[in-house]
Amino acid sequence: MSETLENLLQETRQFPPPDALAANANVTAAAYDEAAADRLAFWAEQAGRLSWATPWETVLDWSNPPFAKWFVGGRLNVAYNCLDRHVEAGRGDKVAIHWEGEPGDTRTITYADLHRATCQAANALTDLGVTAGDRVAIYMPMIPEAAVAMLACARIGATHSVVFGGFSADALSGRIQDASAKVVITADGGYRRGKPSGLKAIVDEAVAQCPTIEHVLVVRRTGQDVAWSEKDLWWHDTVEQASAEHTAEAFDAEHPLFILYTSGTTAKPKGILHTTGGYLTQVSYTHNAVFDLKPDTDVYWCTADIGWVTGHSYIVYGPLSNGATQIMYEGTPDTPHKGRLWEIVEKYQATTVYTAPTLIRTMMKWGDDIPAKFDLSSLRLLGSVGEPINPEAWMWYREHIGRNNCPIVDTWWQTETGGIMISPLPGVTHTKPGSAMTALPGISADVVDDQGKSVPNGGGGYLVLREPWPSMLRTIWGDDQRFIDTYWSRFENMYFAGDGAKRDADGHVWLLGRVDDVMLVSGHNISTTEVESALVSHPSVAEAAVVGATDPTTGQAIVAFTIPRGNVDTEGEAGEALIAELRNHVAKTLGPIAKPRQIMLVPELPKTRSGKIMRRLLRDVAENRSLGDVTTLQDSAVMDLISSGLKTGK
Ligand code: WT7
Repeated sequence: MSETLENLLQETRQFPPPDALAANANVTAAAYDEAAADRLAFWAEQAGRLSWATPWETVLDWSNPPFAKWFVGGRLNVAYNCLDRHVEAGRGDKVAIHWEGEPGDTRTITYADLHRATCQAANALTDLGVTAGDRVAIYMPMIPEAAVAMLACARIGATHSVVFGGFSADALSGRIQDASAKVVITADGGYRRGKPSGLKAIVDEAVAQCPTIEHVLVVRRTGQDVAWSEKDLWWHDTVEQASAEHTAEAFDAEHPLFILYTSGTTAKPKGILHTTGGYLTQVSYTHNAVFDLKPDTDVYWCTADIGWVTGHSYIVYGPLSNGATQIMYEGTPDTPHKGRLWEIVEKYQATTVYTAPTLIRTMMKWGDDIPAKFDLSSLRLLGSVGEPINPEAWMWYREHIGRNNCPIVDTWWQTETGGIMISPLPGVTHTKPGSAMTALPGISADVVDDQGKSVPNGGGGYLVLREPWPSMLRTIWGDDQRFIDTYWSRFENMYFAGDGAKRDADGHVWLLGRVDDVMLVSGHNISTTEVESALVSHPSVAEAAVVGATDPTTGQAIVAFTIPRGNVDTEGEAGEALIAELRNHVAKTLGPIAKPRQIMLVPELPKTRSGKIMRRLLRDVAENRSLGDVTTLQDSAVMDLISSGLKTGK
């Protein structure tokens, strides 16, 4: 990558772990040495944190790459590990989930409660003819039954495919068809932005296209009217009437646990397949290590939706396998007011928050005064996931949410990796704002050049994984060839993650976004992430998205879409002056080559439902094209807002 863009790497701020946390940390620096000495022994030790019905014979079978088998011959039940063993150990009365509905209704669910509900759901699914190996689609709001549905599938060996509740009927039916699911579990609706939104009607539309679906199991959440057909069954008439006695059967370590479709911007979504033993080993270990989980005192909160991998690994399987107490919230962060998340932190005395940069930047935009109204002193650790976190957003998170007293773990991973791969260890790492720092113990990440050669410190290139890891995807459902082509063909014997990365002078890793998002300006590689971070480092900017637009002289030219902070005047000349100032600010921060050709001040940015900026659409705007497919946009009105703002010069 370009030598002109080294400035961000000269980030000199570095923060050691708080002394008390370091002194008492679950994982110390010794873990790196231990894993480096014998990676497979290290993972075997972590697998030993789980309860196995039959021990494994071989830690890893890599005789047929890239098809890995971990913990060969071992057998275990995931739901048993997440529920029964805690109840059997006398921890049944411990709170598993403090659930907060958007309208303010709450439920407190203990491990015994969750165990009982899961056994009932397992019995009900069995009565419906679901057996091990069948696929079950789950299309739910953020209510405890969503976790119960997943755990019940795991308990009986059915493979779940959770589809995010914001997706359309087409998206849902495509995923149901790809996996030939037999049952859909859903709800009448859920609460979002202050009103009930419907789910069942969307399921009805999808199921009309899905002959494999035999039953639709419906939780009553909102009480809204729903159409009813002979396939439909109420959860309260079936699950809640079923026996709470259920003995969990152990399944092979490589038994398929779930399929999760990656968002995919243009191509057909990929059904990422995860299996049982290796997946649970890594999510359980990383949840304990990266969040320094103290199950007796922590109140952990991951704000993701269960429809994303973050919800699978760090709401359901990681935290529950570790016996954590956690918060689960149904709604949006600004309902009924913009302080809702911090109000919840205060109410439940949360110790740990794990959220996404997009949300942190939104909070910055809303203003410092909002979190300041709440008592956040219970927090001791903060996490970030989903995209690169700009240094300024990192600093804001540290100061305004963490009171300069909480380590921030910036965790890099993917749906495909199943669990966290690159992250600080909170009791060990001296963190740098904007860097995910180093691969976790037992993970061999590297940054390589075009030829697949490791780059030296100070160099940039592509992020790869050199060795298989326990929670790696096993294939793309029904398409082994696409699995090979997508991840294992760019470089020999390495997993290609599709992200650009740099290694700084100390060897720490900085993620630069998807490689498709690197711009080529006058022969220089410039990452969109770096220009965005430079813009966000200006006090008037809340959020920025940068794209490369075709340019007759420079090949590509940098075009930036920028959301000003709430209090900034952008009318008329003030707006013009701000644009000029921002262009100069980027040139000063990163070098003249990175000066945007054009900066547009916009009220919103187009994002996918998981919060990733859809640069493809912005490129369409920057190149004056009509817009491509907007169906995965979170809010389709955003593009109208941007286009109309552009016409008035704003
Ligand atoms: C892509 C994976 C991992 C769960 C949520 C997203 C980006 C993720 C980071 C991070 C920089 C990050 C990468 C990755 N990403 N975490 N900490 N720093 N980039 O899962 O939807 O499968 O997306 O998200 O580009 O490849 P996903």
